[in-house]
Amino acid sequence: MSSPSLPSAKFVPLSEPVIAGNEWAYVKECLDTGWVSSVGAFVDRFEKATADYAGAAHAVAVVNGTAAIHVGLLVAGVEPGDEVIVSDLTFAAPANAIRYASAFPVFMDARPDTWQMDAAKLERFLTSECDRTASGCINRRSGRRVKAIVPVHILGLACEIDRIVALAGDYGLAVIEDATEAVGVRYQGKHLGTFGDVGTFSFNGNKVITTGGGGMVVTNDAALAARVRYLTTQAKDDPIEYVHHAIGYNYRLTNVLAAIGVAQLEQLGGFIARKRDIAARYDAAIAGAAGLTPMPRQSGVVTNHWLYTTLLRPGTSLESRKAVVKQMNALGIGVRPLWHTIHDLPPFADCQAFEIEHSVALYHRAMSLPSGAGLSDDDVSRTIAALGDVVSGLR
Ligand SMILES: Cc1ncc(COP(=O)(O)O)c(C=O)c1O
Repeated sequence: MSSPSLPSAKFVPLSEPVIAGNEWAYVKECLDTGWVSSVGAFVDRFEKATADYAGAAHAVAVVNGTAAIHVGLLVAGVEPGDEVIVSDLTFAAPANAIRYASAFPVFMDARPDTWQMDAAKLERFLTSECDRTASGCINRRSGRRVKAIVPVHILGLACEIDRIVALAGDYGLAVIEDATEAVGVRYQGKHLGTFGDVGTFSFNGNKVITTGGGGMVVTNDAALAARVRYLTTQAKDDPIEYVHHAIGYNYRLTNVLAAIGVAQLEQLGGFIARKRDIAARYDAAIAGAAGLTPMPRQSGVVTNHWLYTTLLRPGTSLESRKAVVKQMNALGIGVRPLWHTIHDLPPFADCQAFEIEHSVALYHRAMSLPSGAGLSDDDVSRTIAALGDVVSGLR
């Protein structure tokens, strides 16, 4: 018997995996053959298929997206005590990864129109606060070397990556693109993650495709790819005698999970098509609703529609937005807010935040709607109806 306190209809999840292809068959093949660990044909296939799909020369499969960013920073030359410029409006993983490398994040604001790292502010930071010296780009305020930029492409949208890469070139900075949410997203025809020195993908359970937990590093640089492979397999210089010349990491993806990844990648086009239909229904509903702003569309960007996100009206207080999320959840609709801005979280309180303004306002107003490829038309209708009811009750 179901609990009387639960809504009678099924909970509409935010972003659930769809396991509908060859996952079972491929995993069975791993189990039948005993190839279950961190080498095997599916690891090779998943890397090759991902590289081909993204148009990258190299791909290295790793345990998750956070590890991908960590090792990306290391191979890009980030050293202890360096600074790395990173988006403020994002999940905390890239900022954590910067700290794993014993470097310090400098938080960059989001643009109000696209919600991504503001390249104009990035340029202002570099021109007004940094000096180009023989030993690199130095942040005048901290005296530290600024070594890299981690633009985070959030929600299936894109940072102005061409402009960011050009600025990085001018200042001698590496670019590690956090494209963990951007599998399937193209900017001016090119897949995100392939503009910078290194790009990273995540395949955790809520992403467009999933391996349960997993990630990928992509790059067009053969030496960087080889270094990623080396560091993520415990830095074995002599795999027979176990001689190591660097600190390595146990970061490789297993064959079982790669098998799931190969099957998921085969279905990616269908997942994105379904998510496009869902986003179109939200767009149409929100266009006719007072008090809501639809998700931005960017010209030149083909999105993967990862998480459809709407803004409550300008000036909405954090408390009102929290109440809306609570009410939607109580109605059985799995909405969630964007991430708390990172610069004002305790672990990063001592780090520099540059002209932060819009990321906070977006955090206060934004709400992501159920967007998984497995949603039924009825799930989407229920979400739209609940949204109308809850938002019309807002003063
Ligand atoms: C923007 C961003 N970066 C990094 C990550 C970390 O990926 P993972 O969970 O695979 O470590 C995620 C998702 O979880 C993310 O959304």
